[in-house]
Amino acid sequence: MTKTQLLTVENLNVYHGSSHSLQDVSFSIADQPKAILGRNGMGKTTLCSSLMGLTKAASGNIRLQNYDLSSLSVDKRAKTGIGYVPQGRRMFRSLSVIEHLKLVEKKDSDWTIDRAFEIFPRLAERKNNMGDRLSGGEQQMLAIVRALLLDPKLMVMDEPTEGLAPAIVDDVTELLLALQSEGVGLLLVEQNISVALEVAPEILIMVNGRIVDEVSAETLKNDPEMQHNYLGINFAD
Ligand SMILES: Nc1ncnc2c1ncn2[C@@H]1O[C@H](COP(=O)(O)OP(=O)(O)OP(=O)(O)O)[C@@H](O)[C@H]1O
Ligand SMILES: [Mg+2]
Repeated sequence: MTKTQLLTVENLNVYHGSSHSLQDVSFSIADQPKAILGRNGMGKTTLCSSLMGLTKAASGNIRLQNYDLSSLSVDKRAKTGIGYVPQGRRMFRSLSVIEHLKLVEKKDSDWTIDRAFEIFPRLAERKNNMGDRLSGGEQQMLAIVRALLLDPKLMVMDEPTEGLAPAIVDDVTELLLALQSEGVGLLLVEQNISVALEVAPEILIMVNGRIVDEVSAETLKNDPEMQHNYLGINFAD
């Protein structure tokens, strides 16, 4: 008997004009988080955005559990249970933390603002701060909580540690691990290999719009040559 998949992506193809940005991308996520690693411009964000329906796919199938998302609107995909934390975490500068969260709070969600504040106490302390008065790490927490309040089965996070100071990267890593214990699935896009290895037992490698390999975190961790070939990381890094 096959295990129930949380997310199944089959032969996804996306074009930007004449350039073939996603090429027959197929992978699945069951009960463990997966990370996608790849250098700049390889198609990681295009993949996240086409999972959400923000970028139109030319062909392919996307299923969340048994729901076929492929032809659904962005809104319906979110309602079916994909939470999205986009790269660059856009906030409204003139809304406070609490105002951001009240915009998305749902009555019947497992997640309430109070519960999120318990898990992210730093955000609770900043609840009256405006979006433009938050640090990068606080903005990231707000983006994560905003997505959680919609009660996702799966979170898709695009480079959540990008541009953050090392101490804050550690905080966000802890939050990602906390999500797992809350039973929320995770597809994590990263360029920070150590975050990916810590959070996700399985790693998908993306090169020029294709998933070229799927390896265990353990294998990638212990293979500097593979890291160098796929990710351009030097042995001394
Ligand atoms: N809106 C767009 N119009 C045209 N081309 C695009 C668009 N968005 C992305 N592309 C192209 O698609 C390819 C993949 O870009 P994408 O942003 O998905 O890469 P990425 O892996 O997320 O990179 P990064 O690590 O820098 O975030 C690139 O060649 C990019 O130039
Ligand atoms: Mg990107």
